Amino acid sequence: MRLDKYLNDILNLGRKDLHRIIKAGRVTVNGEVQSSPDHKISEDSDVVCMDGEKIMYRKCFYYMMNKPDGYITAMEDRRQATIADLIPKDVLDQKVFPVGRLDKDTTGLIFLTSDGQFAHRLISPKYSVEKVYHVGFQGDLLDDAETLFQQGIHLDDGTVCLPAKLERVDENKCIVTVTEGKYHQVKRMIAAVGGTVISLHRQEIGGISLDPALDRGEIRQLTDNELCILMTLF
Ligand code: URA
Repeated sequence: MRLDKYLNDILNLGRKDLHRIIKAGRVTVNGEVQSSPDHKISEDSDVVCMDGEKIMYRKCFYYMMNKPDGYITAMEDRRQATIADLIPKDVLDQKVFPVGRLDKDTTGLIFLTSDGQFAHRLISPKYSVEKVYHVGFQGDLLDDAETLFQQGIHLDDGTVCLPAKLERVDENKCIVTVTEGKYHQVKRMIAAVGGTVISLHRQEIGGISLDPALDRGEIRQLTDNELCILMTLF
């Protein structure tokens, strides 16, 4: 791997700044100043330092998946099909795991990553990252359902949800935006206002939409731009 790519994977400073740093002689490889950005590095054996500090190579990986119906959000299970069954082997080797959970019958956007902090922050209510669901339901929602969502829905077991948003699309469809991920949360929130969810699809997380080019079960890497948008949420 090139020295500039190696450093960029870890420091995320951008190639231009890294070239300046490398050319300024601030980077050493195995104790020798290395001033060419395209110098080849072995991630396993070379010792790279910047300003005398050792830089540990640990690249994280980030993907989105279009989760199909019928797969549980887990990396292994003895009986049921899991989303891991849909992930190519080279990506599994990157030790990715799903960010949060979708129910077996929920479809749509799920992120996969090897970055524990990133995953934790996307899930934690502390960072208020919005998750947008397209909901198909049966039944008549209460007239004041929108207000109840804004105020914080009381679930069947007494749990109170954080304020959320409900937008009606037609008499059997709505869009729900939440910033937390309690067990069966959207289904239980809709039940609390008189509906029964019959289809649930996650369309968006933190302003990043499911790529319409992704077929059911497909994954692709998040782009630098998408990652940048997500990282600025924390
Ligand atoms: N809310 C649910 O009820 N199910 C999901 O899969 C996600 C959110």
